[in-house]
Amino acid sequence: MFDVGRSIFYVPFLFFFIFLSFSFFPAASLAQDQPDTATEENTCAECHQSSDDERLKKPAADWELSVHKKAGVSCKDCHGGDPSSYDAAMEAKAGFTGKPKKEDIPALCARCHADSKKMRVYNLRTDQYSYYQESIHGKRLAGERDKKVPTCVDCHGTHAVFSRKDPRSPVHRPNIIKTCSKCHSDKAYMAEYKVPTDQYDGYLQSYHGKLLVEKEDPRVPTCADCHSGHGAAPPGAKDVTEVCGNCHSVTAEFFSKSKHSLAMEETGKPRCVNCHGKHNIPFPGVEKFTGDGPDDCRSCHPPDSPAFKEGVRLKGMLETADASVRKARDAVAELKKKGGTGFEISNLGDKLDDANTKLVKTVAMTHTMHIPLLEKRTEEITGAAKKVHEEIEAIFKELKIRNIGLIFTWVFLLLFIWALNEKRKSIRKEALRRKRTEGSRGRRAEDRGQKTEDRRQRAGDSGGQE
Ligand code: HEC
Ligand code: HEC
Ligand code: HEC
Ligand code: HEC
Ligand code: HEC
Ligand code: HEC
Ligand code: HEC
Ligand code: HEC
Ligand code: HEC
Repeated sequence: MFDVGRSIFYVPFLFFFIFLSFSFFPAASLAQDQPDTATEENTCAECHQSSDDERLKKPAADWELSVHKKAGVSCKDCHGGDPSSYDAAMEAKAGFTGKPKKEDIPALCARCHADSKKMRVYNLRTDQYSYYQESIHGKRLAGERDKKVPTCVDCHGTHAVFSRKDPRSPVHRPNIIKTCSKCHSDKAYMAEYKVPTDQYDGYLQSYHGKLLVEKEDPRVPTCADCHSGHGAAPPGAKDVTEVCGNCHSVTAEFFSKSKHSLAMEETGKPRCVNCHGKHNIPFPGVEKFTGDGPDDCRSCHPPDSPAFKEGVRLKGMLETADASVRKARDAVAELKKKGGTGFEISNLGDKLDDANTKLVKTVAMTHTMHIPLLEKRTEEITGAAKKVHEEIEAIFKELKIRNIGLIFTWVFLLLFIWALNEKRKSIRKEALRRKRTEGSRGRRAEDRGQKTEDRRQRAGDSGGQE
């Protein structure tokens, strides 16, 4: 029969379950938007995991670790079939589609990844498919039926799919250069296309590449920043300025004000890459103005042209400004070493820092190729640095005077001590001499006293006998 006592015992449990179902409610409602959850029966994974055939087993093992498994994207979402049955799992009437053909893969992935409603929860962009279709890769796949271009899985993995923040992902930032170069550095693979295969080697030698490899600097570009991972195409004439300018915005702004920029818009040259290289971009210096490398001024302006001569003049101005700042900085360092700390010199350091900041900006401003403006600025820098140098010279002079004064003081002090010592010695000698003479006088007096006593005694003796 119905036991009231017992049912009261269950009430707290009832409340607990109601509480639990409420706390799961938001998650449950989210899951409705999401693909089937992987926690449900999955005969595909079970049977494939237990297979001895590596071709069948590896997809299931890889998928186990993936973000897709975590997000509930299961075998059925990409291959169809019936994951609740062992025998009929892979039957066509259960919707099984088998192994997707290469040309169908982008659209397969895009079923979810181009669906902003599905991706919103994960804060993922949904433009990969449309960019891909516009890229050289995508166009060749769709147009020429070229199977050698990558689809989504060549860059992301097929089953072992990870977030790009995960170091295991082939598109984790430091891994991207290798992922692209798997094909692009392979001479045999790329032979039929007649595109160069030196991008990876060039990149590794570049200033960007060294910062990425040696310091894992997250700010420097990898292949995907300049080409886009999905829109892969070489940036066109104007785009290069945009691509480099995404990060080097100040420099790009200066460049846009130059005659070079005007010429670039008309003729397509010179772009950033004509003076810096596209993959092997070294740290540039003034030697570009007079050097004979493929990216130096001479590659477009013959040495007797006015433009080249302007460059040589510009080089001279930059070198003078740089040398004067350096010289002043060395002088400050020397002053500190030689005891200038007694003087107020911190303002000199500040002044030099200002001059240096101005110099760095002026180097970027060379991209305007506005010679009169650059001349004015470099003269200001040289002037400021010279002033600091002069102030330091003055301090050195004062330091010298102080030092001479100090030497005099010491000499005087030593002489004084010596004289004092001499005086002390002579006083002591005098005292000793006096003491000695007094001593001998006393002894003589004593002798005299003794003699008188003897005489007296002798007189007394004779008196007694009398
Ligand atoms: C009872 C074991 C078993 C189950 C369950 C199973 N598979 Fe398979 N699967 C196999 C075997 C064996 C092969 C290789 C023979 C073949 O191609 O039929 C295979 C092949 C495949 C292939 C490769 C087909 C090709 O064209 O190369 C895919 C994809 C696949 N399975 C997906 C699935 C999916 C998705 C499910 C669940 C809906 C599933 N499998 C369930 C055993 C299984
Ligand atoms: C996100 C989509 C996706 C999911 C999820 C997925 N696969 Fe695949 N699978 C693919 C694609 C795409 C290919 C074709 C890869 C290629 O051509 O290189 C493939 C290929 C395969 C192959 C053939 C491998 C070969 O080398 O011939 C098997 C077997 C397979 N999948 C099984 C599974 C099983 C089992 C699961 C679940 C444990 C699963 N897949 C989950 C997309 C998926
Ligand atoms: C059924 C829907 C679905 C399909 C089909 C699908 N994905 Fe996904 N994918 C997801 C979801 C959901 C996530 C988000 C997982 C997360 O962030 O936790 C995801 C995440 C990813 C990520 C990680 C993104 C990041 O950086 O965080 C990559 C890469 C990815 N998928 C690639 C693919 C590829 C390649 C294919 C085709 C072979 C594919 N996906 C097919 C649903 C899908
Ligand atoms: C040529 C290589 C390549 C191909 C092909 C490619 N991707 Fe990517 N994908 C990348 C790189 C590199 C990133 C890293 C982010 C970036 O720089 O764009 C990325 C990032 C992603 C992300 C994470 C985006 C985010 O917001 O964090 C998703 C999702 C993704 N790709 C899906 C796809 C899908 C779907 C396809 C096929 C339509 C595809 N990718 C094709 C290289 C590729
Ligand atoms: C699976 C091999 C493969 C992978 C991986 C790959 N590519 Fe490609 N890529 C090709 C092939 C093949 C072409 C076609 C060559 C052509 O038509 O110029 C191409 C073309 C290009 C082009 C156009 C070159 C030109 O001037 O015609 C660029 C740019 C490019 N890829 C960049 C990338 C980037 C960036 C990545 C990595 C995010 C990448 N590729 C990954 C195979 C690959
Ligand atoms: C700093 C930006 C930048 C980075 C990083 C970069 N590229 Fe490029 N890449 C360019 C520019 C700019 C061009 C095209 C210049 C032109 O039109 O001549 C180019 C051209 C290409 C081409 C066409 C063939 C050629 O050499 O002209 C391929 C392929 C290519 N890059 C692949 C890659 C790969 C792979 C990586 C990574 C290892 C990479 N790029 C890194 C800027 C970059
Ligand atoms: C994703 C951002 C990014 C892009 C895109 C980029 N760079 Fe850089 N570049 C950097 C960073 C970061 C440094 C290192 C700056 C530092 O250490 O102060 C750097 C350094 C340089 C340097 C060395 C001089 C210096 O100021 O450090 C040159 C030259 C250079 N980049 C040229 C280019 C050119 C040309 C392009 C286009 C083809 C380009 N960069 C594209 C981020 C970028
Ligand atoms: C890729 C080719 C190219 C390179 C490299 C190049 N320039 Fe130019 N330069 C041009 C073009 C094109 C013009 C505009 C047409 C003209 O006046 O000759 C121009 C114009 C100039 C002018 C303006 C001339 C005038 O008439 O006012 C100066 C100055 C100049 N360049 C200096 C330099 C310096 C300095 C360098 C090296 C740092 C350099 N250029 C590198 C192509 C180049
Ligand atoms: C006409 C040749 C020329 C062009 C075009 C050019 N540069 Fe430069 N760039 C130079 C020279 C020369 C220097 C070195 C000046 C020095 O060190 O005295 C330099 C220095 C730099 C530096 C280091 C100094 C700084 O500005 O911070 C960066 C970064 C740079 N360039 C980026 C770019 C970018 C981005 C573009 C395209 C928008 C570009 N350059 C276009 C010649 C050029």
